[in-house]
Amino acid sequence: MANHEEVFKKVISHAKEYGYIFQSSEIYDGLSAVYDYGQNGAELKKNIREYWWQAMVQLNDNIVGIDAAIFMHPTTWKASGHVDAFNDPMIDNKDSKKRYRADVLVEDYVAKIEAKIDKEVTKAAKRFGDAFDKAQFVSTNPRVVGYQEKADGILKRLGKSLENEDLADVKALIEELEIACPLSGSKNWTDVKQFNLMFGTKLGSTAESAMDLYLRPETAQGIFVNFLNVQKTGRMKIPFGIAQTGKAFRNEIVARQFIFRMREFEQMEMQYFIKPGSQKEWYETWKEKRMKWHLSLGMGPENYRFHDHEKLAHYADAACDIEFKFPFGFKELEGIHSRTDFDLGNHEEYSGKKLQYFDPEENKSYVPYVLETSIGLDRMFLAIFSNALQEEQLENNTTRTVLKLPAVLAPTKAAVLPLLKRDGLPEVAQKLVDDLKWDFNIAYDEKDAVGRRYRRQDAVGTPICVTVDHQTLEDQTVTIRHRDTMEQQRVKMDEVKDIIAKEVEMKEWLKRI
Ligand code: GAP
Repeated sequence: MANHEEVFKKVISHAKEYGYIFQSSEIYDGLSAVYDYGQNGAELKKNIREYWWQAMVQLNDNIVGIDAAIFMHPTTWKASGHVDAFNDPMIDNKDSKKRYRADVLVEDYVAKIEAKIDKEVTKAAKRFGDAFDKAQFVSTNPRVVGYQEKADGILKRLGKSLENEDLADVKALIEELEIACPLSGSKNWTDVKQFNLMFGTKLGSTAESAMDLYLRPETAQGIFVNFLNVQKTGRMKIPFGIAQTGKAFRNEIVARQFIFRMREFEQMEMQYFIKPGSQKEWYETWKEKRMKWHLSLGMGPENYRFHDHEKLAHYADAACDIEFKFPFGFKELEGIHSRTDFDLGNHEEYSGKKLQYFDPEENKSYVPYVLETSIGLDRMFLAIFSNALQEEQLENNTTRTVLKLPAVLAPTKAAVLPLLKRDGLPEVAQKLVDDLKWDFNIAYDEKDAVGRRYRRQDAVGTPICVTVDHQTLEDQTVTIRHRDTMEQQRVKMDEVKDIIAKEVEMKEWLKRI
């Protein structure tokens, strides 16, 4: 495929064309950064959620799952720090009147420097061929070293200014780098200001009695406020975890890149309650566990990397991201945060209720520390979908568009295709569908030539096609065609269920973790 932008455009149009993702309220020209999942998207999303849930809740006997409400008492957000500190630094361009995240403007500038480094590396790799040593090249080539130093210096200064809340310096940096508004091209900027990301709403029927609420900006707080309920009713012993999936809402300033940054999105979060002092060890353990979960999906280790946070969130004493190589570069996919006793401690203070654990080994009570893993379901969807979409050049000089989704996550596991629409073939195929549908999502398709039907199933991501032909009537065998290799094999009809199961069953995939 061509350049990154083109690849990303294809991802977006493919997602729409094949019923994965539609713009919200499209008939009214849509709503910015809000999306709907179509018939295939809903299935893929459900499967990703299930893959996470089973890995967390089913396979760990000390992790349980809950489903807390989106609305929470407004004091929750005072205690959590979101009312005071859940801000993004924003800057307006006076000519285009467009608002930007100041830190993103700087990061985009740095991304351009990094793209220059990539270009130099690609050029050198071509020049030196097999003898090319990338590590040596990037550490010694003067031009690359210069670029890298510049990028590092900018990010360091940005991190420091943000940490110190020195918004004047963030503006000064934007001006020094001569960053222009992508829309108007002008460098006529306002001062940088903080902008709270929470959506407000009201509960109650009359204006006087109405209570100001927020739509939750993270699911985590629903876990914290239920910490004692779960610990006591489940008789949980530290260390233990509480997991949850659900919607979160943020009034993002920079809402772009499709479902990467949305205003309404879904999170899959797990809070692991631990002994104070053990947080470093658990931080490393969960980093490793989460990376293994990602790698089990077979999307290639080269597409992931850890990135330590320079600027820690208001609640963390250590934090990193698992970044994924999206079509627009490496970006955060999941966060792993050591949240100390910040949340439980603050909820104790604001609620006046004890949120402590009596540790029988230590014979004392304490506020547990928390290790959090937090991943955006929609972002995971985008990672999987964009990685899966491929265009292959075939031997006969045609191009095949194929969505190589991990089979365990595919919306439809197999398509049953009668070779022709007559001679009793549709009836046999339909009978096979009726047999398989108890175990898997199965599609039935009898329209067009079988080759075109294969291509349709390739494009929608179905891992297996089962073709019923005249020979089936004689010996009860069918042709199985595999999406990724296009290989075909003749098998007995009563073996089909086991063949599909072997390829798509969740337990087979989860065993790789
Ligand atoms: N409880 C911690 C927390 O919410 P975060 O880093 O703000 O941490 C965690 O968010 C994950 O949620 C991110 O790694 C990302 O995958 C996802 N996420 C955050 N904001 C998002 C948005 N606007 N749209 C889609 N996903 C988002």
